[in-house]
Amino acid sequence: MEVDGVPYRSIWLADDGWSVDIIDQTRLPHEFRVEKLTTWQQAAHAISAMLVRGAPLIGATAAYGICLGLRKKADNDHLKTISEKLIATRPTAVNLRWAIRAMQDLLLPLPENARLAAAYEKAAQICDEDAAINSAIGDHGLEVFKRIWEAKGKTGRLNILTHCNAGWLATVDWGTALSPIYKAHNAGIPVHVWVDETRPRNQGAHLTCWELGKHGVDHTLIVDNAGGHLMQHGLVDLCITGTDRTTAAGGVCNKIGTYLKALAARDNNVPFYVALPGPTIDWEIDNGVKDIPIEVRGSHEVDYIQGLNGEGEIAGVRILPSSSRSANYAFDVTPARLVTGLITERGVSEASKTGLAKLYQR
Ligand code: MRU
Repeated sequence: MEVDGVPYRSIWLADDGWSVDIIDQTRLPHEFRVEKLTTWQQAAHAISAMLVRGAPLIGATAAYGICLGLRKKADNDHLKTISEKLIATRPTAVNLRWAIRAMQDLLLPLPENARLAAAYEKAAQICDEDAAINSAIGDHGLEVFKRIWEAKGKTGRLNILTHCNAGWLATVDWGTALSPIYKAHNAGIPVHVWVDETRPRNQGAHLTCWELGKHGVDHTLIVDNAGGHLMQHGLVDLCITGTDRTTAAGGVCNKIGTYLKALAARDNNVPFYVALPGPTIDWEIDNGVKDIPIEVRGSHEVDYIQGLNGEGEIAGVRILPSSSRSANYAFDVTPARLVTGLITERGVSEASKTGLAKLYQR
């Protein structure tokens, strides 16, 4: 996607041919800053401190983290150690584990002196495939949007509600939930996006609004609790979110608050779609509520809100009395029964074991 006319991905190999450039997402929307990663520890830090975030991008960063780690040593012990450390950076998004396993499966059988070049090739392939997958998600999602737009009589605007950021910043390119939105906008459908601010880190306000604005998509920021009200008043034609891990049975783990939107959507007969790439499916899990590890992050993210201060600097302000405590559950699980459909690179599936198995022929 483009930033002020310049095409960008969210991660890329630098001109030196070995270091890795990322966009520091903790500075957006106030500052567009590119950071260079030169060690696997920096890659791990970029993931855990959320300079990069979003399940597919976390996976791509971890793949390049392996490459950076192999520059020093390429023996089995080192490869396994850095793999474990990278996997531990964020527990919920399954693409991280998927990408590390894909790297290990390729690298472990190779002689040590062949591993570095093969790792860089594989990391680049993971990135290219992610971009292609997300573009295909956009194409399939566009067909869904067209049907809803036609059923609405093509009047007014197509009002879409989304939660968190599942745009190109959360992936390598295009995004998952935002990919069909960009394609619909490009196809001339007058889309308007209600953007949940997504406390505590406000990925909606900081990232989704920034992305949509850069692409010229009409959007309005709402507080997290406004969605139900909007749905009751017929102001939402569909909801679409991304996911950090989808169970083999179609349950969807996504940013905290997604479940409540799905409940409100069901109560108001608003279609609730989830967009996901194949690597976000955890084929080892059926019951997401029971079996998906939910990341609990530091309370600082809840106690403070980040923004621009009067001096134009990015700063946090405390909103909690110093004597109170907070809890920071980062994800929740929406049961499959509340999901209208899963939009994947292979087409749209029912949120069920049969639906997903049919699509992925398992
Ligand atoms: O904690 P984050 O910002 O990494 O959260 C992940 C997300 O961006 C969302 O949950 C998203 O909807 C799924 S990733 C495309």
